[in-house]
Amino acid sequence: MSKLPNTTTSIFSVMSQLAQKHNAINLSQGFPNFPVDERLLQISNRLLTENVHQYTPMAGLPSLLEKIARLTDENYHRKVNTTTELLITAGATQGIYTTINTLINTNDEVIILDPSYDSYEPSVLVAGGKPVRISLNDDYSPDFNRIESAITLKTKLIIINNPHNPTGKIWREEEFQALETILDKYSNILLLSDEVYEYISFKHPHISINSRPKLVNKTIIASSFGKSLHVTGWKIGYLIAPEHLMNEIKKVHQFLVFSISSFSQHVIAEYLDIVDFRKIATMYEQKRALFQDLIKDSRFEILPSEGTYFQIVNYKEISTKSDTEFAKELITKHNVAAIPISVFYKNATDKQMLRFCFAKTDETLIAAAERLNAI
Ligand SMILES: Cc1ncc(COP(=O)(O)O)c(C=O)c1O
Repeated sequence: MSKLPNTTTSIFSVMSQLAQKHNAINLSQGFPNFPVDERLLQISNRLLTENVHQYTPMAGLPSLLEKIARLTDENYHRKVNTTTELLITAGATQGIYTTINTLINTNDEVIILDPSYDSYEPSVLVAGGKPVRISLNDDYSPDFNRIESAITLKTKLIIINNPHNPTGKIWREEEFQALETILDKYSNILLLSDEVYEYISFKHPHISINSRPKLVNKTIIASSFGKSLHVTGWKIGYLIAPEHLMNEIKKVHQFLVFSISSFSQHVIAEYLDIVDFRKIATMYEQKRALFQDLIKDSRFEILPSEGTYFQIVNYKEISTKSDTEFAKELITKHNVAAIPISVFYKNATDKQMLRFCFAKTDETLIAAAERLNAI
């Protein structure tokens, strides 16, 4: 008996495999293809021969927990208790999975806002819960009437993701206020805030739940060093949650992984002393500007990208094909890989849109744009 009977190979793997087969430029999966910071490599090289290779404490290396608390205070003026409110996880994915499998029991409902990241729904299903998928508005802002109408006595958790994958949307102050009003009324409902792109916002600042006093006590925040420090393959992230929730999450985490790779924890703990998080957004803003400028005369319509390293486009002028068909054609005929947006929805709403990842070298973006401009 399968717990995930409808799960097949993820579209990210499908597109990456097809891209490889056709030697396409891969702007599909969300990871950088530029080298990591030389200073991170130097710390890694030095630490490799030191005594850093045994289990760390279950919740994480104390020095790393201290640095995360400092970072959270510097950025959001929240004082996090390192022993009771923090947990280092194997990427945000494991943090999200563990949170959901701690909090969700059979038949509990979890509200997910579509388009949504693909790990939320299966995590809820494995826990025996029921994903309730609500579409965002056409401009990808949340529809609070729709969200409130979906709340039932069984609703246990709402998942939000900000800055948003795949659309790059960033919630504004009014949107957080509206969410606070709803959660004030339904005091049993918890919030899971996926903030893995928290350091990649452009014109509008990212508003973290860390800076919302009305929400911190009912929210689990997931973050990812993989995303922020361009080391997605290290699979290291963390959760911040109030003690009463974190206690329960730790119980499950303890038997899922116990503790995370000691080496990457040691390296990142040192690196956090020298890395400047403000430069991350500046670097990606330049990449976004370059990519947008390169394809501005193409037949793709460029939609706003307020944060993350994703750019969504629509291709209505080019083809009437479904987004999945068009994404395949883009690889096989034009040798560029992208992700069709309908895969981020439950009820595949096909708006003929694709997501490109611009976390790539300028050379890669230039070469991809040449091909896109020729279509
Ligand atoms: C919205 C979102 N959440 C979580 C993750 C997973 O992060 P990690 O690689 O740290 O597990 C991703 C990765 O693409 C993502 O886009």
